[in-house]
Amino acid sequence: MQYLIKRLRKTIAALTLGLFLLLPLPSFAADTATGKTLIIYYSRTGKSRLISQVLQKELNAQVLEIKDLKNRSGTLGYAGAGFDGFFDRHTTVDPTKADLSPYSNIVIVSPIWNWKLSTPIHTFLDNNRLDGKTVVLFTNGNNDIRKYEQYDDNAPWIKRFFRDYIRGKSKGSRDYVTGTAGGNYVRHCHVETLEASNDQIMQRTIKQLDNVKSALSIKTAKANQ
Ligand SMILES: Cc1cc2nc3c(=O)[nH]c(=O)nc-3n(C[C@H](O)[C@H](O)[C@H](O)COP(=O)(O)O)c2cc1C
Repeated sequence: MQYLIKRLRKTIAALTLGLFLLLPLPSFAADTATGKTLIIYYSRTGKSRLISQVLQKELNAQVLEIKDLKNRSGTLGYAGAGFDGFFDRHTTVDPTKADLSPYSNIVIVSPIWNWKLSTPIHTFLDNNRLDGKTVVLFTNGNNDIRKYEQYDDNAPWIKRFFRDYIRGKSKGSRDYVTGTAGGNYVRHCHVETLEASNDQIMQRTIKQLDNVKSALSIKTAKANQ
């Protein structure tokens, strides 16, 4: 009898262990194979390109550069970009449309123009759908857009003004991804670039990697493996 009870206990223990090992498998598989990741970027002066290169290597992702067919170089180019950004104008980009069907994760890397996503990225989002895709926004700019987030409602009015202004603009960027392009926005990361060396930009990007990976549910394995 005692022999039978021992056997029964062993069998139950083996079954429980087996169940424990088997059950997490589907969700683990889903987490590590969330599909391919595509980084879509526009860069006027090379900083977003550098950030995209770091992300590409670390996420094992594909990269799509959006080129602005308007000349944005020099002072005139800067002024034109400021004008287009301020008045929400559009531009001509290459490519206008892209086959995004192989990708379930999209990382949009853009410089901040007038506290919004850059005009070429807006134009690209107007022409492409991101339905069903998990989207991370990765912006960079002269300033840290989170700088004013620390101010509560007792802060001087000017700080509250900037906090609410930048909050509104960041919400506008998220709404562009969800409303205009139909994507599933999950996270906004930002890197400050003013007077930063390439090394510092790379380091700041790497610091944000865990945020990007967890937002895209990329755990132990690399995305495209
Ligand atoms: C037209 C224009 C508007 C900009 N507006 C802002 C802004 O509102 N806030 C900010 O922090 N940086 C702003 N910047 C600075 C860029 O976001 C910053 O230099 C960025 O790192 C450049 O990235 P890129 O080299 O990929 O073009 C602006 C730059 C341009 C050209």
